[in-house]
Amino acid sequence: MILPIIMAGGSGSRLWPLSRQQFPKQFLTLLGERSMLQTTAKRLAGIAHKPALVICNEEHRFSVAEQFRLNGIANSGIILEPVGRNTAPAIALAAMLALRNGNDPVMLVLAADHVIKDEAAFCHAVTKAMPLAEQDKLVTFGIVPTAPETGYGYIQRGDALASELGFDIAQFVEKPNFATAQDYIATGQYYWNSGMFMFKASTYLNELKLHSPAIFAACEASMQEVSHDIDFIRINKAAFEACPDDSIDYAVMEKTQHGVVVPMDCGWSDVGSWSALWEIDDKDEQGNVFKGDVIGINTRNTYVNASEKLVTTIGLDDVVVVETKDAILVAKQSEVQQVKQVVEQLKAEQ
Ligand code: GDD
Ligand code: MG
Repeated sequence: MILPIIMAGGSGSRLWPLSRQQFPKQFLTLLGERSMLQTTAKRLAGIAHKPALVICNEEHRFSVAEQFRLNGIANSGIILEPVGRNTAPAIALAAMLALRNGNDPVMLVLAADHVIKDEAAFCHAVTKAMPLAEQDKLVTFGIVPTAPETGYGYIQRGDALASELGFDIAQFVEKPNFATAQDYIATGQYYWNSGMFMFKASTYLNELKLHSPAIFAACEASMQEVSHDIDFIRINKAAFEACPDDSIDYAVMEKTQHGVVVPMDCGWSDVGSWSALWEIDDKDEQGNVFKGDVIGINTRNTYVNASEKLVTTIGLDDVVVVETKDAILVAKQSEVQQVKQVVEQLKAEQ
């Protein structure tokens, strides 16, 4: 049985000013007609045996509930984290809840904010991964890298599995520095970690207990007190606050001996910047992507997102303009990653 788990607790500061702490990237409609969270849930229709179990921060509960309810998308519950402690604990809570319900499902762990253009290829890779997960493997999905990005995990392919469904993981390195990433790519042996995983609930918890026992213990303590309120599932706050903050990548995947990688070629993007969004969206003849009320004269290779006002541009090339009610971003495409610094400065001034 496949139980999808959608992790929707991130803050997505790289898409400021549309993405805000109160309303982060996964709730935005950036491509097509649905938000990234809705698209993630809808994509599962052909492969999952149960609706997704969502895990997010308490402060986002109404946004998440509304995104499901408004579109008639079912869920298997919404676990509320009283504080963000990153993905290793989030996945542990979901696994513990699943086991408590009396079964040991294969969990398909998904980020809420990825774009996947080729859904058939995604489903194909998940189907391939299923028997591996059932054999107590921790399955990662590998993306062929196109640049030495430092925001990703890197997976070195080991021997091909006898089943021919994938490869052993020789090495998993989360967010290496630029020079290391360059070296990895040059070998032709590395994939990017897509940030999606598949394993049995028990497999994950055993590995977490082995490699990050403090997280395991804190999550177990948090689950001593579980309350249900419609779809919302709450846990013990004080116990979860005491949990170390770590991602699955550092806490488990870098350390486990049971990792495997299934290559996935599905037009994946984690939409890490406005320019990434410009790259994957459909462009007009001048290479522009205009969202909302926009007039562009003599404008090329430019991304404009207007939410409140008419935005007009003249003589621009390689620019990003994002207009919202209370903030406007104007940036060179090549430097738009630095929006993080804006967000940091704003936080410091608060
Ligand atoms: N519930 C919950 N709680 N969800 C969280 C939390 C949390 O505390 N922190 C992050 N998430 C969610 C985010 O919303 C996102 O959907 C997903 O978990 C991944 O978190 P990110 O913070 O976006 O991770 P990342 O992008 O830096 O790195 C991960 O993804 C890369 C691919 O996009 C890693 O798995 C990398 O190895 C991978 O390459
Ligand atoms: Mg991410």
